[in-house]
Amino acid sequence: MTIQLQDPSLLKTQAFIDGLWMDSDSGETFAVTDPATGQPLADVASVGATETRRAIAAAERAMTEWTALPAKSRSEILEKWHRLIIENTEDLAVIMTAEQGKTLAESRGEVAYGASFIKWFAEEGKRVYGDIIPTPQTDRRGVVVKQPVGVVAAITPWNFPNAMITRKAGPALAVGCAIVLKPAAETPLSALALVELANRAGLPAGLFNVVPGSDAPSIGGEMTSNPTVKKVTFTGSTPVGKLLMQQCANTVKRTSMELGGNAPVVIFDDADLDLAVAGALTAKYRNSGQTCICANRLLVQEGIYDAFVEKFAAAVSEFRIGNGFDASTTHGPVISEKAAKEIDAKVQNAVAEGATVVIGGQPGEQGGCFYQPTVLTNVNDSMRVFREEIFGPVAPVFKFKTEEDAVRMANDTEFGLAAYLYTESMGRSWRVSEALEYGMVGVNETAISSEVIPFGGVKESGQGREGSKYGLDDYLETKYICFGALQR
Ligand code: SIN
Repeated sequence: MTIQLQDPSLLKTQAFIDGLWMDSDSGETFAVTDPATGQPLADVASVGATETRRAIAAAERAMTEWTALPAKSRSEILEKWHRLIIENTEDLAVIMTAEQGKTLAESRGEVAYGASFIKWFAEEGKRVYGDIIPTPQTDRRGVVVKQPVGVVAAITPWNFPNAMITRKAGPALAVGCAIVLKPAAETPLSALALVELANRAGLPAGLFNVVPGSDAPSIGGEMTSNPTVKKVTFTGSTPVGKLLMQQCANTVKRTSMELGGNAPVVIFDDADLDLAVAGALTAKYRNSGQTCICANRLLVQEGIYDAFVEKFAAAVSEFRIGNGFDASTTHGPVISEKAAKEIDAKVQNAVAEGATVVIGGQPGEQGGCFYQPTVLTNVNDSMRVFREEIFGPVAPVFKFKTEEDAVRMANDTEFGLAAYLYTESMGRSWRVSEALEYGMVGVNETAISSEVIPFGGVKESGQGREGSKYGLDDYLETKYICFGALQR
């Protein structure tokens, strides 16, 4: 399959280093395939440690002038980049659906979501304030200034091939850093199209480098060991995040980690049932269940349990899985056959331990990357679907008796990214929100993401926040300057 674009020059297959498109030194490439059809889409340059080192050196050189610019000048380029992303929404969405599989409507939504981070940080970058500290000595003043952290290395996932990049590149560039990005090997084309638009917006050479590759350890190894890199930002799995943090320890790099989740949606007897069903559907099946904040466990109080399962499963039975380019498709494939098999293994583990399949429970007939939207009942906390991130369209519905049970079950995980609750009680919404050990809590709402909120987790879901005014902090150092002898 070839990707049909209004502007075919957005389809790039080379690395972008120091303002130039280039092949890998070895000439090696890796194949990008369409998960819906299994058809090859493109062969992309597969770079390694040497090219990554070159990109880091280019970033360091480019940063000097960029940091010295007034924030307003950096902001103007980011604004232009934002406009170009919006103008090219359709092509960016087509590229995304082709390589990632999500429906075209979801891809258009993600392009807008991704662009919003560039706009937001173009504005926020102008508001990097410091402090003046009154000192104990009358002839001194303490001044706190915020400075760019330095060269940033970013490693991004395939589930949001656009927005997870802009959420990092936006703040990094806005405050004066340069960035070297390794996009997921499954979805490099979205990243390369984004950097092409940044280049067209006038971003100076070397500030935003993209190093695609299938040898993640060699690119990641260079990023985490190179002393020029001052910060590594990663979105992906908890095991990989832990490894990167260990590797970064040798050169004491700053890190931001947006890692795995195991989100509970807690639905109390006093919830508005229709609102809860709609929220749980969105939270569970967005991007075919492949987001870190997707509902992993539906915890439903016993009085409302049967009614919830009935309505929820009825709505799931309306879903149509298929190719993301078909207008009738509501949910696309998962990213790979391996992922579909892993999802099925979790379902079969639950079934072997006594779970009931209300709907779905099998691989899809449309191809190796499809999995039927699934609802499971009679599930318990020893099953893999309770303990592990499912990352697929499978909803296990657990029953609980009391508020205390719900909070205990919700917190019974090493993860702490997002949690949701449905109740009509004001007191309970405060109590439970405060008791949940999560970085983000949605009360009677599961569509919690946007550029204005601090996205991030606690426990083994990571550290750091992306988006919002807090998203700048991860790219800034705090410097204290003491002005003394002021009596002279
Ligand atoms: C993620 O899956 O990590 C991102 C989800 C979002 O930004 O809403």
